[in-house]
Amino acid sequence: MRKLLLSLFSLSMLTGVAAAAPAVKWEKEGPGVWNLTVGRPDTFNLTSALELTPRTDAMQSLGDSPLPIDTSLITTQLIDGKTYLRLPLDKGEKIFGLGLNFKTVEQRGRLMRLHVDHYGKVDNGRTHAPVPFYVSSKGYGALINAARYIDVYVGTSNRVDSKNAPQAKDRNTDRTWEAMPYSDNLEFLIPAEGVEVVFFTGDNMLDVVRRYNLYQGGGALPPRWGLGFWHRTPTRFTDRQVLDEVAEFRRRNFPLTVIGLEPGWMSKAYPCTYQWDAKRFPEPQGFLDSLTAQNIRTNVWMNAGVSPDCDVYGTVKPLSSSHTLWNGLVPDYSLPQVRDIMAGHFLKHQLNLGVSGYKMDENDGFDQWIFPDVATFPSGHTAEQMRQVYGSLMQKTTTDMYRAANRRTYGLVRSANAGTASFPYVLYNDYYNHRDFITALINSSFIGVLWTPEVRGSKTSEDWLRRMQTVCFSPLAMLNAWADGTKPWSFADVEKDVYDIAMLRMQLIPYLYTAFADYHFEGTPPVRAMNLEPAFTTETTVVENGKLDGTDNPYAMASKREMKDQFMVGRDLLVAPLFAGETERKVVLPQGKWYDFYTGEYAGEGEVITAAPGLARIPVYVRDGAIVPLFPPIAKLDGKKLPLEIRHYGEKPGSFSLYDDDGETFDYENGNYTRIKLRVEIKKGKKKGYVDVPKGARVWSFDGNYNFKFMTLAGARPASSSAAMKRK
Ligand code: GAL
Repeated sequence: MRKLLLSLFSLSMLTGVAAAAPAVKWEKEGPGVWNLTVGRPDTFNLTSALELTPRTDAMQSLGDSPLPIDTSLITTQLIDGKTYLRLPLDKGEKIFGLGLNFKTVEQRGRLMRLHVDHYGKVDNGRTHAPVPFYVSSKGYGALINAARYIDVYVGTSNRVDSKNAPQAKDRNTDRTWEAMPYSDNLEFLIPAEGVEVVFFTGDNMLDVVRRYNLYQGGGALPPRWGLGFWHRTPTRFTDRQVLDEVAEFRRRNFPLTVIGLEPGWMSKAYPCTYQWDAKRFPEPQGFLDSLTAQNIRTNVWMNAGVSPDCDVYGTVKPLSSSHTLWNGLVPDYSLPQVRDIMAGHFLKHQLNLGVSGYKMDENDGFDQWIFPDVATFPSGHTAEQMRQVYGSLMQKTTTDMYRAANRRTYGLVRSANAGTASFPYVLYNDYYNHRDFITALINSSFIGVLWTPEVRGSKTSEDWLRRMQTVCFSPLAMLNAWADGTKPWSFADVEKDVYDIAMLRMQLIPYLYTAFADYHFEGTPPVRAMNLEPAFTTETTVVENGKLDGTDNPYAMASKREMKDQFMVGRDLLVAPLFAGETERKVVLPQGKWYDFYTGEYAGEGEVITAAPGLARIPVYVRDGAIVPLFPPIAKLDGKKLPLEIRHYGEKPGSFSLYDDDGETFDYENGNYTRIKLRVEIKKGKKKGYVDVPKGARVWSFDGNYNFKFMTLAGARPASSSAAMKRK
């Protein structure tokens, strides 16, 4: 002890700062949830800022599994007002999450500073949702619950006192020299005098993520119309032009459930009035009524800056930041009275007229387009803290407003953080890289956020179609034509294929709506990484050694092949998008048998296959025994009950708990919903389907015509001659 004190003393002499071991407290919050309090954490953190209610019952039903790490190896220090936190890492342990990354899925070996920002082409922590939550392949996850810029060293740092340190090697002579030696640490530097860390466990990584999502109140359940097809019109369109555009969709029978208006709907934008422009939209109520009559919802763009011409400018001024955004006020949304003022304004000018929701732009920063870190806020929270939660607070404000009116909303937002899983918002950005959009889609599932790989424009019809295919298998299927006015049918040679995939999106609504119900009630991400599939045991990490001593990168590192271009949608669909320029691709199938979505043919089992389905199709595979309920091809949702096509795939019997409710309100929270059990039994090789509607239960969406379709012929064997795939 004396020795330790002496060394601490000499350390502070050398550095001029005092190192101290802060008070540490462990508390079990519930089954599979532990809370570690280090020092004096900020009371304003990622979850407390949002006043969340965990879904404790559902968390309970996940059971209680022990924390699979040796907690004595977790070390903490307080130096210079900052908290140093170190956790052990095993050899071979994989780490996922830590923000909405666009290029990487496995985070081991990365250094980042988690910081809300527009993504800048590097996975360095600056992103739209820099969520400080990771999930480990050891079967646990941890949330560093601080609204701070957090530095993370994910298995990159090595300590002199490491019990497990790698050996020094001579790069001149030893070919096994590594640019990044193995590290047994996961280290965090939190610029605060303490931190709260919440640990989650589960039988597998999916259960860990489920528990983390339930802790935040469960995932969002969008209104049913939110899962249809969205189209955003050019920014300065008038009411007439928008209505004409809608008429064109209807004339072509092209799916459309939501129309999006961009900045031009407002009298002034950048900064915003949040009030209708009198020239372009002289009669907003009539305009919105006419859309509602056509079963079209309206989503409107906004950003954070409040214009001097906004009706509430004067009221909100004393409650805003010291700094402006595009010369508009930046309201302190952490203050309840600000949320009330702004929600009152939004209610009057949008919700009460029939607007269904928002696209809340630019709350991520792009650095110069947000308040600087020297800004101050009336709440006393620092600009750093506000930056980390600004988008989350805007989500809370509008979510609460719609909830108070008992109407569900679904919208878009450009920043989020931990705690927002239950808010019905989907992230997007301006980056527009198709491949990286899919990696973001995959990563969103580790961290409790949703992402859309929205379609804007393309240089070729092939790229256009490939992007459309991807977006139709995402949480929000949208064409964002705000800048150039592209239409879904703009590329004549693929017009029919784009139409078909948008129709398939509409058909999938019952399946997707159930996936979102499972997100809400059980915490299961509706679109998720292959790594979260318990059946995904195939060892896919292929390490390719880099070439040393190159002029461009003298420390070339080995690169890993990760699962960043295929993903799961809902319970049983595996989607493997193709990109422009490709005619075929490799698909890794998890354990168990998998079948082609379109033909029902056998595709493979726990192996790598090559998919070559042609331009019109995106490769989609279905798990053995899966049931996929589909609407008929429809262009709109008009509240009429519809027949249901119930597809069964493979050779195993199966069941599916189809979710149904009114699709619009929060009445489901009071038990106003129905689970319809769809079953397929196989007796003596004969398949038979059953539909069990609980006695007296209300059905909102289906007209009682339940038509089973057995996609896989009995006794079907590996279809080696299948045109859809070649075997490796
Ligand atoms: C961008 C946004 C676009 C569009 C545009 C309007 O920041 O990402 O989708 O809304 O603003 O000015």
